[in-house]
This record gives sequence, C-alpha cells and structure tokens, in this order.
Amino acid sequence: MKRKATKRKPIPLVPPAIRSRKKARQIVTTFHKLEKEADEVSSSTAPDKQARLERLERELDEMGGRQAYQSASLLSVSFHNTSKWVTKQLAGKMGLRPANGEPPLRVLEVGAINTRLLDVPWLDVRAIDLKSQHPRIEERDFFSLEPAGEYDVVSSSMVINCVPTAKGRHEMLVGYRSHLRNGGHLFLVLPLLCLTKSTRTTRESFLETLSRIGFMVVAKKETPKVAFFCLRNTRLEARDVQVGGSSLATKEGGTRGAGAAKGTSRKRNRGANDFAVSP
Ligand SMILES: C[S@@+](CC[C@H](N)C(=O)[O-])C[C@H]1O[C@@H](n2cnc3c(N)ncnc32)[C@H](O)[C@@H]1O
Repeated sequence: MKRKATKRKPIPLVPPAIRSRKKARQIVTTFHKLEKEADEVSSSTAPDKQARLERLERELDEMGGRQAYQSASLLSVSFHNTSKWVTKQLAGKMGLRPANGEPPLRVLEVGAINTRLLDVPWLDVRAIDLKSQHPRIEERDFFSLEPAGEYDVVSSSMVINCVPTAKGRHEMLVGYRSHLRNGGHLFLVLPLLCLTKSTRTTRESFLETLSRIGFMVVAKKETPKVAFFCLRNTRLEARDVQVGGSSLATKEGGTRGAGAAKGTSRKRNRGANDFAVSP
C-alpha cells in the first residue's frame, strides 16, 4: 500500500503576534519542556542521542523557536510589570533614587525583552538576553559575563525558571550576587508555582537557599501567579547566618532566611532542592 507522504508544517519566518494568554502559557511551557529535555539528552550517553536532539530541535522549530517563546513572554510580561515594581521599590521606601546631579544607579538586567528599565533616566542599565529583541538589548548569555561586583542592582524577572538544572539555577543566583557590589540589590521574579508546586522546594527552603548564598530579604510580594523578591547582597558568609532565630530580623523588617519566618527546621532544608545543590 502506498504511504501518504507526511507533510511538515511550514515554519513562518516571523511567528504571528500572540494575543491569547492561554496560548502564550502553552508556548512558554512547551519551550521550557523541550529545552530541559534537550539538556538532559545532551549530557546523556544514549546511542540515539543525535537523533533525539534533532527531533527536539524540529519540535522547537515547529512551535516557532525562541522567537515564538519571546513573543509569548512579551505578552506575559504585560501582566507582571517587574520594571514598575523595581523602580517603585528603589524610589520609594528604599530611598535609593539618586538626587539631581548624582550618578545614576548601575543596573544589570538579565533576560530583558523590553526597554522599560533602559528608559528610566536615573538608571544606567546594561540589558542582556540570550536572544535580543531590541538594538539596545545586548545579545549575551548571563553565564558568559565576568562578574566584577560592580552593579547597584541586578534585575532578573522570569529568567531563573528558564535554567534547566538545579545546579544551573544555583549558579545563576550565586552569579547574581557576584555582579552586585556589597549592599547592592537583586530583584528576583519567578513563577509562584516554582515555590508552591515543587516536591523539592517550598517558599521556606527557597528563602533559606537565598540566605545561604548571602542574600537578605528586603521586600517580597506575591500575585496569584508570580513571586517578587527584593534581596540585598550582604557580606555575611554562610557560616555566619543562623537560620531559625529571631536575631535574623532586619531593620527593614526583612528576614535572613526562611527559618526566621516559620521556624523551619534547618535540617530538613539541607541538601538539594530546585535551586541548590547539596552543601
Ligand atoms: C520568560 S522570559 C522573561 C522576560 C522578561 N524579563 C519578563 O519578565 O517577562 C525569559 C528571558 O530570559 C532569557 N534568558 C534565559 N536564560 C538566559 C541567560 N542565561 N542569559 C541571558 N538571558 C537569558 C530568555 O532568552 C528570555 O528572553
């Protein structure tokens, strides 16, 4: 019997703009799933490794590739205005907006898909993304930057969840700290699901990981889908941080680590979670 030739879907050069939030979510989820699988296959020694990687690449192309993923992200970003939160925090209670004549704050924006922060006159922003969508956004992998502890602020919104491994996510957090001057601030935004639906990570264990890396919580908020953290880079070494004691409450009302918030057992949180590797 004659077999019908399977026709591959044509891949548009520029994917159409995405208007449905549901569709955008599907694209983002599929993209992350394919990237994670490709990462696992790459580091395996499976005999069919090459064929599997090619299949994953085809699937990625068929969904529109990174371009479609970024269009989907553009739609999502309109529902969690991180830049507005960042500027409001800096200029509000934190009182860090420079006065007239003072130099702008130095900012590293990782995973930038719009120019909202770049357009703020009192910020001197270096915006990077793996795939730049704008001439003012540098096409650069965060992991290829040489940290020099030079930034007042690092902003990372919905980026850490794109990194496929716990080790990579941990390295990203540690890397953010290395780019900050002592006392600088990390604005970290991630899907709430990462902290509520994981079998390995809770809000508390996440905060404890941040604390162990050297971040102190200055402010945080949650929407039904998104968790926002403003974290200060402290010089404290991991051994200096006692988690679980009231002594960790800060002047700003923040806490150093999760244990302080909920009396979480340090023992339970030791070892690997989605953002850390075993100590
Ligand atoms: C889900 S989008 C989020 C974009 C935007 N910041 C927001 O809040 O919606 C994640 C972005 O991070 C970028 N990204 C992921 N890993 C990165 C890395 N290692 N270095 C630079 N950008 C990265 C992706 O290319 C993508 O544009």
